[in-house]
Amino acid sequence: MIILGIESSCDETAAALLEVKGDKFKVVKNVVWSQTQIHQKYGGVVPEVAARQHVEAIMPVIQEAMGKNSKPDLLAVTMGPGLITSLSVGVQTAKTLSYAWDVPLIGVNHLEGHLWSYLLNRNQQEAKNKQITNLPAVGLIVSGGHTELILVKGIGKYKLIGQTLDDAVGEAFDKVAKMLELGYPGGPIVAHFAAKGNSSAIKFPRPMLTSANFDFSFSGLKTAVKYHIRDMAPTGSLSQAHVNDVCASFQQAVIEVLVAKTIRAAEKYKVKSVILGGGVSANEELTQNLKLKANNSKLNCFVPEKWLTGDNAAMIALAGYFNKQKSSKNNWKILDAEANLRLV
Ligand code: KG4
Ligand code: ZN
Repeated sequence: MIILGIESSCDETAAALLEVKGDKFKVVKNVVWSQTQIHQKYGGVVPEVAARQHVEAIMPVIQEAMGKNSKPDLLAVTMGPGLITSLSVGVQTAKTLSYAWDVPLIGVNHLEGHLWSYLLNRNQQEAKNKQITNLPAVGLIVSGGHTELILVKGIGKYKLIGQTLDDAVGEAFDKVAKMLELGYPGGPIVAHFAAKGNSSAIKFPRPMLTSANFDFSFSGLKTAVKYHIRDMAPTGSLSQAHVNDVCASFQQAVIEVLVAKTIRAAEKYKVKSVILGGGVSANEELTQNLKLKANNSKLNCFVPEKWLTGDNAAMIALAGYFNKQKSSKNNWKILDAEANLRLV
């Protein structure tokens, strides 16, 4: 079975072909056209600009993903959550192709794509999809818009056990980068400078580390960084060494909270594994810490390879495949984008 995945929830226009043969997955083609450079000058994603870029890019991106292949057996498209104007471009395109090709269409939750993205790791691409045996698991989804801890009992069997009460982790990285005038998107830049700094140089707070629930909060930490910058450089800018220390200390505070609460949730719910997904899972310090602590607690730890961490359509095709039985309810006539679509 060949599935064409389409993703346009934020500022990446993406299409991918996923082949499922027997019990094996194979990413045949994965095309991601990023608008990051266009949004850089505004310091963040401008929804109207993003939507227009999606309109221009979506057909060439799909064409490139399709190559010489004829029509797929299933179309999977991100229907939410995300920017409604961005989502609508992917959804309307998928609906049109579904009608024109007479191919079933399934709407996918972007977060479900991130959750299962590790299953497409290169060394697992040919692996049996029955490998989802290490469940139940606790999934940590960390992206620019979401920070969620999910109890995963199986495909489609999810329970939300914690989430951010304010900023998402990726958003906090982006805002700290902005305060330090490092550019956009902030996550990779902050991580880059953090690698050169001292993570215990500045004592930033560890928000909600010891709270009795599995929720998160990052806006106080962000404010602490803001005040630190204001106090240390009231008239000018910080030295590069100081910037490195701010990045490292901020990153360390975030990671400590994320990892501690994920492991605590895994222990409370007596699961076998932890799963990481979302754009922030590109952060190597985070993945290394999580792997280490999971190992200490005798938990499996599944992390997507870097090429699968950011928004892509291979993960959408995969989540579409997992949900394919729902496609009859989800055809082109009724499918619509939903900006606030929830996973659970
Ligand atoms: O999943 P994603 O590509 O898009 C959304 O669904 O939001 O996540 C994007 C977020 C951005 O906030 C970006 O700064 C962050 O992921 N990010 C990182 C790193 N790479 C990307 N955050 C921390 N460290 C990184 N290396
Ligand atoms: Zn995402």
